[in-house]
Amino acid sequence: MIVAIDGPAGSGKSTTARRAAQRLGGLYLDTGAMFRAIGLAFLDQDQPFTDAAAAVLVPSLTVELDPHPDTSALTVRLNGDDVTERIRSGPAAQAASRAASLGPVRDAMLRSQRAVAADWTSHGRAVVAEGRDMGSVVFPDAPVKFFLIADIEARAQRRAADLAARGETADVDQVRAEIAERDRRDQNRALAPLQAAPDAIVLDTTALTPEEQVERVVQTVRTVQKAQ
Ligand code: DC
Repeated sequence: MIVAIDGPAGSGKSTTARRAAQRLGGLYLDTGAMFRAIGLAFLDQDQPFTDAAAAVLVPSLTVELDPHPDTSALTVRLNGDDVTERIRSGPAAQAASRAASLGPVRDAMLRSQRAVAADWTSHGRAVVAEGRDMGSVVFPDAPVKFFLIADIEARAQRRAADLAARGETADVDQVRAEIAERDRRDQNRALAPLQAAPDAIVLDTTALTPEEQVERVVQTVRTVQKAQ
């Protein structure tokens, strides 16, 4: 069973997907973390965000997501180095969004995401995959698809709180502007743009608690499992 959860930054995807994976005893596949690790490699190696640079850089990179057995929290490794904290910075988020518009990056990520999911589902485990194109491109046959949305104000407040919790300065106006810029880029790119799959359940999380969101996903999965 693959559960696809897509939506813009700050819509509540990560918390929902991670906790739903935990409840279902499945894998939490944070594909944003993969793009963030790749974005970080562009920054670290001072590479321009072009297809030509990506075609050389991406084959030299290995991104691993290592789930904690109890919490489903992920340790993210880039070529063996733990980058779990570094990928959460503002510059890493923008670099991820820019790298994510490049063909060689998307091709490599798509292949690797499908391979990880195939491995887990072949062992009868669920995969809760979170990103921008899980339901529309990577797992079009996923039996459960959610597309989370929320007011820009709520999303900016959540992101600012996340950054503040990490000890980063988080001016809400700046965070709102950065989210809007990423949304624009993610929605308007030619390859796998951020959009709801036609068969996705659109869930507005503005006024929902994380518990309510998780419950909604888990109940939908149970209903689909019973019908299968
Ligand atoms: O979900 P996130 O904020 O960690 O994602 C970081 C960036 O990665 C986001 O701005 C767009 C890109 N991304 C993508 O293009 N496709 C995905 N499946 C996941 C993330």
